[in-house]
Amino acid sequence: MRVDGKPTRSIWLEPDGWSVGIVDQTLLPHRLATARLTSLAEAAYAIRAMQVRGAPLIGAAAAYGVCLALRQDASDESLERAAATLMRTRPTAVNLKWALDEMAAAVRNQVRGDRVDAAYRRAAEICEEDIAINQAIGRHGVTLIEAIAGRKAGAPVNLLTHCNAGWLATVDVGTATAPIYLAHDRGVALHVWVDETRPRNQGASLTAWELGQHGVPHTVIPDNTGGHLMRHAMVDMAIVGTDRVAADGDVCNKIGTYLKALAAKDNDVPFYVAAPSPSIDFAVEGAQIPIEERAEGEVATVTGRAADGRIETVRVVPDGSPVKNYGFDVTPARLVSGLITERGVIAPNRAALAAAFPERVAAEAAAVTARRA
Ligand code: MRU
Repeated sequence: MRVDGKPTRSIWLEPDGWSVGIVDQTLLPHRLATARLTSLAEAAYAIRAMQVRGAPLIGAAAAYGVCLALRQDASDESLERAAATLMRTRPTAVNLKWALDEMAAAVRNQVRGDRVDAAYRRAAEICEEDIAINQAIGRHGVTLIEAIAGRKAGAPVNLLTHCNAGWLATVDVGTATAPIYLAHDRGVALHVWVDETRPRNQGASLTAWELGQHGVPHTVIPDNTGGHLMRHAMVDMAIVGTDRVAADGDVCNKIGTYLKALAAKDNDVPFYVAAPSPSIDFAVEGAQIPIEERAEGEVATVTGRAADGRIETVRVVPDGSPVKNYGFDVTPARLVSGLITERGVIAPNRAALAAAFPERVAAEAAAVTARRA
């Protein structure tokens, strides 16, 4: 995507050919700053501290984390240590495990001297594949927006999104935003309701910034506003991303997604999930997805820019009040109108997922057999 007219990705290989550049998302929207990752520890920190975040980008950053580790030490032990370190960073987005498995498969059977090159090659492919997947999601999803536009006789299509499933959450383009950007670029009149997404405000800070950079009309709303808007026919379609789609079609995404899906069902608002295949986990049911719990401070405080330009963090919860901070929730498949995948829009159920991605089902079956042997 373009930032101030300049093509920008969320992660890239630096000109030195080995260190990794990222947009430091903890500073947006007030400052667009980059950081340089030079070691496994720095890559793991970037994921844990959410300098990089969003399921597909977590996977891409982990892939480069493996490269940085192998550059120091290309042994089997180093590969295992890197995978274990990165796996511990964040538990919910399955793209992390997917990317680590891909990296292991790419380097495991190489002689030591070839491992670093093989790792950087596969990490770069993972990034390019992510972009191609998101572009395909855009092409499939735009037809849903255009169909609504066709019924609205030029009035803007009102979309609602939660969290940030935009280009910042991926390598580029985004998942939930891919159809939105494409529709906007094709001249479809649209407007996006952006859930602020407490406690980390990925909607208010990141999605709103992205949409603004691309010139997409949008309005930031408190998280509890969506139901009211839907009851007053002010939302034509909800579209969100996902951190993990289970084999049964249940969808895990940022906390609060489930409540939006409930409100959408009650008001006959179509509720779509942009679901790239690396976010699909054929090994679990929805109820088994691990839900990340994060620090209390994210709920007890709010960070923003003060009138004098300084970034400040202030407490909004009484001292001593306990706080709970679940990062994600699981939306049952029955509340989801469809999954927008790179292979088309499919029903959120086991049969449709298996029909769309038979090779992934076969790979999972083989892995189960191997584990039992
Ligand atoms: O905690 P985050 O910011 O990593 O959570 C991100 C989300 O929940 C996104 O909606 C999800 O990863 C889909 S991103 C394409």
